[in-house]
Amino acid sequence: MQLDERAKRILRGEEGEAARKALEVIVAVGEALDADRLVPVSSVHVSGISVHNVGPEGVELIEWFSAHGGRVRLEAQRATVNPMGYDLDAYIPRGSEWHLQSRLLDALRRMGFRLLLGCTPYEHGNRVKHGEIIAWSESNAVIYANSVLGARSNREGGIIALLAGLTGYIYRHGLHLDENRVPKTRVILEEDPRNDLEWGLVGFLVARLVDNVPLLEAGIPPQGESLKNMLAAAASWGSHALIHVKGVSPEYQWAQSRCQGCEVLRVTRSDLRRAYEEATGAVLDEADAVFMGCPHVSRETLVKIVEFARRCGGYRKTVYVAYPGGAEAPFDKRLLERLNIILLRGTCLVVSKLEALGVRVLATNSLKAAFYIPRRHGVRIALGSIEELLTEACRG
Ligand code: F3S
Repeated sequence: MQLDERAKRILRGEEGEAARKALEVIVAVGEALDADRLVPVSSVHVSGISVHNVGPEGVELIEWFSAHGGRVRLEAQRATVNPMGYDLDAYIPRGSEWHLQSRLLDALRRMGFRLLLGCTPYEHGNRVKHGEIIAWSESNAVIYANSVLGARSNREGGIIALLAGLTGYIYRHGLHLDENRVPKTRVILEEDPRNDLEWGLVGFLVARLVDNVPLLEAGIPPQGESLKNMLAAAASWGSHALIHVKGVSPEYQWAQSRCQGCEVLRVTRSDLRRAYEEATGAVLDEADAVFMGCPHVSRETLVKIVEFARRCGGYRKTVYVAYPGGAEAPFDKRLLERLNIILLRGTCLVVSKLEALGVRVLATNSLKAAFYIPRRHGVRIALGSIEELLTEACRG
């Protein structure tokens, strides 16, 4: 594998033991993947920091890098981390593993990672640009970076993204290369989806029916929850990391010009209806509570949830909203509690102890949550659009 002078110095131990070990691992993985060279990264985003996912061994491994002088080699804004296994305000009771979780956070902080504790780094300062090579490991963020921002990331493992942060390098591979970004399937929607849930169902269908890079010919809003829901669905129900989206992707023209011989997939309204029936596990009025924020909601969406609550005098069903712990929340938590909104800062219901909330059926707009929550927690999901969820929450 081709290494530049700085990489060679790191491997000789001239930048410390942690950097040397981190780069050795990156080189070994790159060689196993037949990568031809190391390339510098301009941003990392690290997933897999919930103690419920990594366990004590994962905490010890990350502490080892911190204890041996590991330091982030990028601007602090550009080395962010995913949600953890507990929320900052302890709405989810802190069990015996909390002390391990805080040790893990301390180690990350000492090494210079920004504790965003959020899965939408692209909305909170880690906003990468067209053509940048990055190492992100949260699947919704990777597909957003590739498809919306035009950056280049593979779906890295959490530990690989962390090691890339400690060295500033990743192996050149997969979606870094033009040839792996060429679309093979044109997806045509017979009718435009009407809301964020229907866009999520489009992502679900892409995941189910397309196993290569798709080109989506559709007029989706260029930012916001519909786009996030669609991309996160394709990345969770399938393994997509890039969709060229008309009106959104900076590479769309380039991709379209290479899609003359693409297969064609047409999506009709009855396909969306069948997708809904397959993905939902219950109907809205069976839900004990509402959940939004998978991926974490934006500040604008949080404002919308609060304004909706004010108009109906507060929600009758509890509305749980996941939001990054390291981002300023625009509302006081007491005010939110009065409206029956619980802001889960810094966590996500998939990687935390959802059972502690005592819900059996959860209403959500998120297709990604509909994939993970029943499998991981045995809680049934009722799907609805944001508008339908908030109306249901008001009605009680
Ligand atoms: Fe984010 Fe957790 Fe969903 S990391 S995308 S809220 S599964």
